[in-house]
Amino acid sequence: MGRIRDRGNDGGNVYRWQTLARFVNTNGWKRGAELGIHDGVNYRYLINNCPNLHLIGVDLYEAQPENNGPEKWTPGENGHPWKHEDYYDKMLSFSVENPDRTLIIKDYTTEAAKTVNDGTLDFVFIDADHGYEGCLRDIKAWDSKVKEGGIVFGHDIHFTTVEKAVTEFYGENSWNVEDDFIWWIQK
Ligand SMILES: C[S@@+](CC[C@H](N)C(=O)[O-])C[C@H]1O[C@@H](n2cnc3c(N)ncnc32)[C@H](O)[C@@H]1O
Repeated sequence: MGRIRDRGNDGGNVYRWQTLARFVNTNGWKRGAELGIHDGVNYRYLINNCPNLHLIGVDLYEAQPENNGPEKWTPGENGHPWKHEDYYDKMLSFSVENPDRTLIIKDYTTEAAKTVNDGTLDFVFIDADHGYEGCLRDIKAWDSKVKEGGIVFGHDIHFTTVEKAVTEFYGENSWNVEDDFIWWIQK
C-alpha cells in the first residue's frame, strides 16, 4: 500500500498527464487503462510520450441525465460543451493512427471491466464518474485489474465524493496525492 505524500496539496503546477507519463516511463510500464477519456488530452499525451505503452481508454460518450453524482455530462452543464460525438470521433481517428497501442471502448466503465483480465494492467487511471457511488463502483471493478506492485491512480481527490469512495475502499491514510488532484495507491 502507498502512503500519504502530501495531503495538503492543492491543484499544483504539474499536469496529470505529466505525472502519469513519469510513472509509466520510470517503471517501464507497458499496459494501462484510463477510465473517462473526454477529448483525450491525457490519453493522447500518454500515447505520444510513452513509446512502449498500450492504453485502454473507456468512455460512454453520452450524457447521463439520471446520474446521481455531481456531473451528468449534459451539453452546457456548468458551461461545458460535452460534445461527446466529436470527442469520440477524434479519439477513433487517433486510434487508427496508433493501432498497436490504443484501444478505445465506448461503454460504461463497469461493462468494459468485464473484458479485462485481473492482474494484467500496470496501472489504471480512474477519472470517469466522480460521484461517491460511481467512483466506488469503478474502484471495485478495476482495482483487481492492476497487478501486484502496480498503481491505481484517480483524478479529482478534492471532490468529497471521490475522497469518500477512495478512503472507504482503501482505508484512512492509505492514499498518496500529486499535483492536479491525483490520488494513487500502490498495490
Ligand atoms: C472528467 S472527464 C475525463 C477527463 C480525462 N480523463 C482527462 O484527464 O482529461 C470524464 C469522462 O467520463 C465519462 N464517464 C462518466 N461516467 C462514465 C461511466 N460510468 N462510464 C464510462 N464513461 C463515463 C464522461 O463521458 C466524460 O467524458
